[in-house]
Amino acid sequence: MRINLIVKKNWTGKVLVGFMFEGDKTPLAMPGDEGKRLSTYAAGEKFTGQLKKTSLWRGARCEGDAGEKLILAGLGKRNEFEPDRVRSAIARAMKRAEDVGAESVGVLVPDGKEVRGELADFAAAVVEGAILSSYRFDKYRTPKPDENKPVGELTLVFSNTKNLSAAMRRAVEEAVARAEAVCFSRDLANEPPSPKPPEKMAEIAAGLAKRGRIQVEVLHKAELEKLGMGGILRVGAGSHQPPCLVHFTYTPDEGRGTRDGGRGRKRTVVVIGKGITFDSGGISIKPSAGMEAMKDDMSGAGTVLGLFKWLGTVDVPVTVHGLAPFAENMPGGGAQKPGDVIRHYNGKTAEVISTDAEGRHLLADCLAYGSTLKPDLMIDMATLTGACVVALGDEFSALLGNDQRTIDRLIAIGNEQGEFFWQLPLPDRYKSHLKSKVADLKHIGKPGVAGTIVAGLFLQEFVGEGVPWVHVDIAGPSFTKEDWDYTPAGATGVPLRTIAALLRKGI
Ligand code: BES
Ligand code: ZN
Ligand code: ZN
Repeated sequence: MRINLIVKKNWTGKVLVGFMFEGDKTPLAMPGDEGKRLSTYAAGEKFTGQLKKTSLWRGARCEGDAGEKLILAGLGKRNEFEPDRVRSAIARAMKRAEDVGAESVGVLVPDGKEVRGELADFAAAVVEGAILSSYRFDKYRTPKPDENKPVGELTLVFSNTKNLSAAMRRAVEEAVARAEAVCFSRDLANEPPSPKPPEKMAEIAAGLAKRGRIQVEVLHKAELEKLGMGGILRVGAGSHQPPCLVHFTYTPDEGRGTRDGGRGRKRTVVVIGKGITFDSGGISIKPSAGMEAMKDDMSGAGTVLGLFKWLGTVDVPVTVHGLAPFAENMPGGGAQKPGDVIRHYNGKTAEVISTDAEGRHLLADCLAYGSTLKPDLMIDMATLTGACVVALGDEFSALLGNDQRTIDRLIAIGNEQGEFFWQLPLPDRYKSHLKSKVADLKHIGKPGVAGTIVAGLFLQEFVGEGVPWVHVDIAGPSFTKEDWDYTPAGATGVPLRTIAALLRKGI
């Protein structure tokens, strides 16, 4: 989607979107005669700016050009306003614009005093909501002639030049980069499983390198063997497609890193994502019904790739390492078997009960490896447990970990971003569930008992002493069967925007 910024007097387009608070008589940024005409129209339509409501004015009812259309999008009550409502409202307006075949749409950006918070945040939310809601995964489809086409161009229309500042342009550019990173990670997870084996994912990752900023190192099978990454290797052993590990490093510009107290070095974050390019369950094979959904079992790693695409465009004040382990979980002749013992990177062994509980072994290697980088924060994201979907449904990710401050921040930032998180405990009392007679640990607990929590306790065993760590189980929100406000059905890109906002703010 092309994005332009102009002032109102230069607007010559045909389809314009305006926002309206519930109870107001005119849309925002619409004073004077235009506003009066519209208030009459809105009253006639009984459009009162309610949340989730839109109204399309086809222009024929007003003076002027009959080809002109105006779409009003409700923001709900002014005192309940939050920027995420803008993303949802513009998404609905874009649908209406598609319905009337608009190729290009203008959006009236309110004046600063009309909305709570920063105007730049409002404009950024417009752009994000528009790009995210217009996303399609259609590379394998032939479009039908009567199908709506996404709008190709969005113009932000400002009431005056003061509002269209350099800072505003920067905020909008950042929003575009953020939304495009989400679309990129959605593309990766929506891609069918066979065209995206581990080495192909590594190739895509290598393409994100940027000189002086982002380094990408791919550890192939032989290197994983040398390092002793038994988790990634054994899970990948049932497939003809060898596993691998991508290690990204983002280095902030000199002077931009925040100093870490007396230690005098830049803060370091490690972000890890589960990258199972297809989860058949392996020898503990899954039931075939619904197995196609397991192409998205790499969405944690897809989020890591999306984050590094985004980091290629923006300055953040921390060093960021990204670890994306890739493997295909298949029941081939070399596959790991229930009863096997896996030795992980830090030497800890785990008894395998179900080869379908594979993700935790990739994460275990990476958490141990990530800990050697002495991070100030380590976050892992994984479509880890079906139990998480049972507990929290498909809109909430679970947070577990030892860093309460970061957990609280993720919940708060997530609410701003429209990505939802809920904390689960990591009680020592349940550690007994992981006792094994043949290895240091059993890799799962009792069937049907606190699956998400026990998986978290397993991961904790691989986090280095004193490393602040948060595990994000995205089994629910990584993929949606229905359209959400500005998220079409399919891979969602959750929780990229929340993690990006956390990195942007610094830790
Ligand atoms: N990838 C799945 C978890 C999953 C299930 C994600 C549904 C999204 C939707 C994971 O590898 C898995 O199969 N976990 C098992 C663990 C069990 C064997 C302890 C599960 O949740 O059933
Ligand atoms: Zn599995
Ligand atoms: Zn899995």
